[in-house]
Amino acid sequence: MADSWVIMVTAQTPTNIAVIKYWGKRDEKLILPVNDSISVTLDPAHLCTTTTVAVSPSFAQDRMWLNGKEISLSGGRYQNCLREIRARACDVEDKERGIKISKKDWEKLHVHIASYNNFPTAAGLASSAAGFACLVFALAKLMNAKEDNSELSAIARQGSGSACRSLFGGFVKWKMGKVEDGSDSLAVQVVDEKHWDDLVIIIAVVSSRQKETSSTTGMRETVETSLLLQHRAKEIVPKRIVQMEESIKNRNFASFAHLTCADSNQFHAVCMDTCPPIFYMNDTSHRIISCVEKWNRSVGTPQVAYTFDAGPNAVLIAHNRKAAAQLLQKLLFYFPPNSDTELNSYVLGDKSILKDAG
Ligand code: DP6
Repeated sequence: MADSWVIMVTAQTPTNIAVIKYWGKRDEKLILPVNDSISVTLDPAHLCTTTTVAVSPSFAQDRMWLNGKEISLSGGRYQNCLREIRARACDVEDKERGIKISKKDWEKLHVHIASYNNFPTAAGLASSAAGFACLVFALAKLMNAKEDNSELSAIARQGSGSACRSLFGGFVKWKMGKVEDGSDSLAVQVVDEKHWDDLVIIIAVVSSRQKETSSTTGMRETVETSLLLQHRAKEIVPKRIVQMEESIKNRNFASFAHLTCADSNQFHAVCMDTCPPIFYMNDTSHRIISCVEKWNRSVGTPQVAYTFDAGPNAVLIAHNRKAAAQLLQKLLFYFPPNSDTELNSYVLGDKSILKDAG
């Protein structure tokens, strides 16, 4: 093989937001969770990662750049994903350019990876979810791996747990699985993105600063110290998963909103039950919850659901565009631009109504 050629593949993967949360691992190395989780995948036009992977005989080692800055690939999570995809690589041929890569060649060839997020990294906006899903998908395409998206999700999972759910659009369930090697801990689509397309997702960015306790560290401490987590994983989540799937399939917003808010609140309660306690939400997050709860109660039927991941930013899911427009009005009224509690920006999972509140 002459060593002047490069083959590249680019992929784009949206992030996902859990409505029944994953929090806690039963196996840290394989990233196996203590409970099933369900998420909604956002519109790729908004929060997404774009990753280009390239292979060339002239590359001396695997290298990666994240948002333009080189990062180390020595961490186990990247190595796991690279190893698992390499093990599934197949022959690749570019007839036009006379390039042939055999299954065996992939063991010697190195890759370069360039990845960009169009949203703040590690600010509780699930950047690792989109990142690892995109990396695994792009590598699989480059190396001509034949696995389907569920099988790829079990590899993305080994990069970051929540990443396995970003291999599908719509609503997605991550089945915790039973077997020790983790091969049945993977994502399946509950419904596709067209099933419930009048929902509008708004992210109120309370702060885009890096979070103090990473999800990985936070959930490790929770597993070690919280009794509430054990009750949640064994008694509460299995029932909620069944109810949530039903609500989604029937497009029952009242039940969906109730379960989403309750699960977010229980996840943050479990964080508080950790020793030492972990606080991801701040005063502004709490005020957003009160505002939504008050509004939902005043109209009788829920118009908006809220959920918060490992950070203070609110993910608000409105029943339809009318509810979304009303919600934005309320947010602008209660958290006005140029005030202490200004929300930096709103991003819509559906279509952009308003990008910068300031
Ligand atoms: C609160 O997937 O980021 O967003 O598996 O350690 O990489 P690791 O954690 P990560 O945790 C996400 C936690 C969450 C809830 C969720 O997305 O289900």
